[in-house]
Amino acid sequence: MSDEPLQEPNPAATKRALGGDEPLLEPGPAESRAPVRIDVVTLFPEMFAPLQHSILGRAIEQGLLAVSYLNPRDFTADRHRTVDDYPYGGGPGMVMKAEPIFLAVESVASPESAIILLSPAGRVFSQTVAAELAAHDHLVLICGHYEGVDERVREHLATDELSIGDYVLTGGELAAMVVVDAVARLLPGVLGHAESAGDESHSHGLLEYPQYTRPPTFRGWPVPDRLLSGHHAEIAKWRRRQSLERTAARRPDLMTPDLLAELADDGSKKRSRRRRSTAAPTPVAQGADREVGAAQDDAPVPDAPPPLDARSPDSSSVPGSLA
Ligand code: ADE
Repeated sequence: MSDEPLQEPNPAATKRALGGDEPLLEPGPAESRAPVRIDVVTLFPEMFAPLQHSILGRAIEQGLLAVSYLNPRDFTADRHRTVDDYPYGGGPGMVMKAEPIFLAVESVASPESAIILLSPAGRVFSQTVAAELAAHDHLVLICGHYEGVDERVREHLATDELSIGDYVLTGGELAAMVVVDAVARLLPGVLGHAESAGDESHSHGLLEYPQYTRPPTFRGWPVPDRLLSGHHAEIAKWRRRQSLERTAARRPDLMTPDLLAELADDGSKKRSRRRRSTAAPTPVAQGADREVGAAQDDAPVPDAPPPLDARSPDSSSVPGSLA
């Protein structure tokens, strides 16, 4: 296969594969900060069409993010544009060749670029890793396929190797999309929500607290009283408590000693407060307000719920939460 007559690499063909001369995701007008650039090395650039939509599409239009695609086939030099070959030593399947991947990456990378191979053998991607990557100006994501990628890509080209979880996908494309999405929403201005940074440090490392919207009672299931109280400090306390309890119950592996101490501390304070109290507890709303050990000493519930925040559906999630 490598004995074929040489041809010039043809990066323009990648753009054609995306449906014309325009790259699939063309950066919009430049903002004050240069857009974070992400180059994806993939045999299947068409798979990334979903990134054009919603928050990511807008981030690209606004010039906060620029995503481009490099097809290793465009960096082959043989008539058949060969990107894979049989494994040395035998065995099933094909292995992606090193050279087209090296040439694709080298056409865009600088010494500062983070060059990431997506593979089930990588370190596990997480919110912390997403934040780490969001600090880079340039990421190159290499999507593996077939039975694997020539080990020299891993050893001599990639600066990092990431897995999105302990399961095997047919290729790295879906994993790369996950990484692009998780990184993009951390870039300043992408979520367009004033409280994103504050909430992030607040809820960092915890699962998200329960969210509700109108109506206050749906099929007999009420919204927890605390959220209707209009008492912001109490709401913040309730949410923090919910996040802690939910994380302890569902993802104990995320509970650091500090979080465990906070969980225990909060509970014991409530217990001692309750022992001192002579007032009868307010009944807990049926099936909805399931705080463990929480005191029922909220501000009175107003007749009508406070108005909902004016926010777009896209920006309503809590950045940094893991739920
Ligand atoms: N390629 C195949 N499976 C993968 C995974 N779990 N994470 C990242 N890349 C992959």
